[in-house]
Amino acid sequence: MSIHIEAKVGEIADKILLPGDPLRAKFIAENFLEDAVCFNKVRGMFGFTGTYKGHLISVMGTGMGMPSISIYATELITFYGVKKLIRIGTAGSLNKEVHVRDLVLAQAAATTSNMIKNEWSLYDFPQIADFELLDKAYHIVKDLGMTVHMGSVLSVDAFYSDFSATNIKLGEMGVKAVEMETAALYYLAARYKVQALGIMTISDSLVNPDEDTTAQERQTTFTDMMTVGLETLIAD
Ligand code: HPA
Repeated sequence: MSIHIEAKVGEIADKILLPGDPLRAKFIAENFLEDAVCFNKVRGMFGFTGTYKGHLISVMGTGMGMPSISIYATELITFYGVKKLIRIGTAGSLNKEVHVRDLVLAQAAATTSNMIKNEWSLYDFPQIADFELLDKAYHIVKDLGMTVHMGSVLSVDAFYSDFSATNIKLGEMGVKAVEMETAALYYLAARYKVQALGIMTISDSLVNPDEDTTAQERQTTFTDMMTVGLETLIAD
């Protein structure tokens, strides 16, 4: 086992879907995968491996924020040999045209975090999606008729902060949404030469505060996002 994951090498597929919430990982295993076996319960961060349309796939929670996803992504890549990682999660819209329940495919992720600056203090390292995964996801989303926005997201460390107004200014320059994990995932993918993509459902809006969703609507859009993530992982 690695420090935070109790699976044996070989029990995790080389393609993985990464929701933030470990209970969503369990939901995906129970509703989308066949013959799913739980490989991790350490810290309640459930991980499962099963098959989706005949392809071996894993799914695991990452927790919230860049330090948490970095621990799991690093161990999954360096210890278990995972090669394709797709984060599915929520984000807050920074853009009037990006509405609650819409999907965002993160072409790139800006960040206020120092995690990457600590290693590249003189550079602005470009955190970008893997183009092959992005291209596949885009066509899958379009074929399914979902509303999708392509563009950059902002990955922050603090959910609660006094910087909403500044974040909204980034929205005016085209940044689609704010979330807390994608920049670190893209950085680690570059560092370890694997493929990563972030797919977000808009759960709230910083610019259209009246927009609301019912629990049922949120579940439906989440389910749609899971389908996009799984179909992208198995696409040839
Ligand atoms: N801020 C940061 N992360 C988020 C948000 C937000 O408004 N909504 C969903 N994840």
